[in-house]
Amino acid sequence: MLRTVIHARGLSRTFRKKRGKQTTEVVAVAGVDLDVEAGEIVGFLGPNGAGKTTTMRMLTTLLAPTAGTATVAGCDLLTDPVGVRRRIGYVSQAGSTAPENRAGEELVSHARLYGVSTAEATARGKQLFAELDLDGLWERQPKAMSGGQRRRLDIAMGLVHVPGLVFLDEPTTGLDPQARANLWQHIEGLRSERGTTVFLTTHYLDEADALCDRVLVIDKGTIVASGTPDELKSSVGGDLLTLTSPRAADVAGRMAGLPGAEAPTVDGDRVSCRVPAGGAALVALLRDLDAAGIEVDGVESRRPSLDDVFLTVTGRSLRDGEQTTTEPEGAQA
Ligand SMILES: Nc1ncnc2c1ncn2[C@@H]1O[C@H](COP(=O)(O)OP(=O)(O)OP(=O)(O)O)[C@@H](O)[C@H]1O
Ligand SMILES: [Mg+2]
Repeated sequence: MLRTVIHARGLSRTFRKKRGKQTTEVVAVAGVDLDVEAGEIVGFLGPNGAGKTTTMRMLTTLLAPTAGTATVAGCDLLTDPVGVRRRIGYVSQAGSTAPENRAGEELVSHARLYGVSTAEATARGKQLFAELDLDGLWERQPKAMSGGQRRRLDIAMGLVHVPGLVFLDEPTTGLDPQARANLWQHIEGLRSERGTTVFLTTHYLDEADALCDRVLVIDKGTIVASGTPDELKSSVGGDLLTLTSPRAADVAGRMAGLPGAEAPTVDGDRVSCRVPAGGAALVALLRDLDAAGIEVDGVESRRPSLDDVFLTVTGRSLRDGEQTTTEPEGAQA
């Protein structure tokens, strides 16, 4: 039976900033409803400044909502924040390890805060170090680690007390491709071996596609799309056909006649449009162009990607997006 581990309604946060006599308001999160079931891996996507971190900080009790309610890991966010904290793990976007402490000691003392015995914390910590490829760094200070190593230590900190629900804010930003793939495997393992529920943000859409059962897209503080990656991709409306030809305008004219085709766009010698079934449409189109004697240099039919979804619902492409960090954060929950 499904069990809801995050249930939020109307979650909102407005920041007020005073500059002289003027007060400006930033609506960071504007009434978010979300439900996450036990054992799900849910991806929270959105452009920079969309409200992902603010939502996570509210759900992890680090920031008070200005409106709304939520139950997290069975505890009421507003009346039992201590209960929420005890049951979750949180890896903040900015990280939270003290630069001077020895990595292993800090990991163990963090787990001790959750009532885990020193022996158990040490065993679990060493196992995490091995699995996250941090072997040999137990005695190292975070300030003497590489960025990617520190990031993996942050992740170990969020997992060492074996929480049933984990919040990961951009866990793989700054990791090399191998470390990313390794972390995906680790997260999937947590779910399959322990039934851990994972709520994560990422700017890598391939990551969301590969890892997440469900994806929520937030833009300007509001959820603008949600569903499985496949559901979202099929909502974009068809495959993208692209042909390159010296006679682009003629190709566009023929393309427009394909059944169910959207209006073609022409960019230099490239012509593109969305059609319901790309493969079949392409065969028909090439025959038609051939019969008309219109030369074609290149063809491509591409299934919609999560990037297309992202572009459709937010008007922005993450491929072109610069990644920036909004601000440093408070301590780990
Ligand atoms: N403490 C704060 N004071 C004022 N404004 C804030 C504060 N924290 C966040 N904001 C603003 O709230 C909005 C949402 O920020 P948030 O950090 O939640 O975005 P995000 O989706 O996590 O973005 P990113 O992808 O860059 O991490 C932004 O406009 C940000 O500038
Ligand atoms: Mg953020």
